[in-house]
Amino acid sequence: MRINGQHFETIWVDRNNKEKIKIIDQQKLPFRFEIKTLSTFDDAFSAIKDMTVRGAPLIGVTAAFGLYLAMLGKTNDEGVADYISSVCEKMKMARPTAINLAWAVNWVEKELRGVQSVEEARIISFKTAVKLKEMEVGYSNSIGEHGVRLIEEISKQKNGETVNILTHCNAGWLACIDWGTATSPVYKAHQKGIDVHVWVDETRPRNQGSKLTAYELAQEGVPHTVIPDNTGGHLMQHGMVDLVLVGSDRTTRTGDVCNKIGTYLKALAARDNNIPFYVALPSSSIDFELSDGIKEIPVEQRDDDEVRFADGKEGKTQLAPDGSPVANYGFDVTPSRLVTGLITELGICGASEGEIQRMFGK
Ligand code: MRU
Repeated sequence: MRINGQHFETIWVDRNNKEKIKIIDQQKLPFRFEIKTLSTFDDAFSAIKDMTVRGAPLIGVTAAFGLYLAMLGKTNDEGVADYISSVCEKMKMARPTAINLAWAVNWVEKELRGVQSVEEARIISFKTAVKLKEMEVGYSNSIGEHGVRLIEEISKQKNGETVNILTHCNAGWLACIDWGTATSPVYKAHQKGIDVHVWVDETRPRNQGSKLTAYELAQEGVPHTVIPDNTGGHLMQHGMVDLVLVGSDRTTRTGDVCNKIGTYLKALAARDNNIPFYVALPSSSIDFELSDGIKEIPVEQRDDDEVRFADGKEGKTQLAPDGSPVANYGFDVTPSRLVTGLITELGICGASEGEIQRMFGK
């Protein structure tokens, strides 16, 4: 998608030097647009851990490029197999919740199985990282093509009046390299001339909604309004939301959806008001091993200071007294029964084991 009219993706290989990986620094947006260079495994690991890059699909692809950088960092063939498994193990620890991280690392590790030399490992890991990136861009594009049909349908029912969509956090192109998951149908609808408007939850404590989603939508000229996180229920009660569209960091094979903290409350409010609640996600965000999201998905707990301080244009400001303890759970799980449907790269299906199995044949 575009920034100041120029097309960008959130990660790419430096055109002049294949050994450098470029990323957009998401910690600085929307106040500063800065491009950073990843040159080593540690650079990639830290970028994921400190959320310079974030969002499930982008985390996975950055990890894949990080493994390629790790291969560049190894100077001889001695113990190459052990080296590969140790960097893969370490990379998986960068963040715990988004399953795309393990998905991408496992994919690279499988491709590297049996390699004898560092040179071979470099070639294979590079090709694999590029392939995973292309796959994620393709997934996001297809999610948009399938999801736009829901928006078209609502628009028809409303005789062309504005379709109001509520979203939480940033499941946009910044999180996904291009198009986004939850935002992809919105961009497609906007490009088709459908009248859409997005309610953007600000998404405390890191404000991925007000900082990133609002920025993306503004850059694409999509009408939107930033709202405090507690506003959605009120809007729903007053007929001001037609559809809730969110992303996912990990969805179980039974359709339980783990997404940014606060998503579950939106699903409850949507159910109480008979508003469709859809989750847009690529298959790389489905954990086919898990069946109970609440019990089994590891929920990241982040630094207290993200809650204690707000990080704005002018820097950090304290919001809570020094002595008050805070809690900072990064994600929550919306049980499948509250999810109207899943918008995937293969089409739209119900949030149930049977429907997911039918869609993905696993
Ligand atoms: O903590 P983050 O910013 O990496 O969280 C990811 C998210 O933005 C979401 O929860 C998102 O909705 C899913 S990623 C497409």
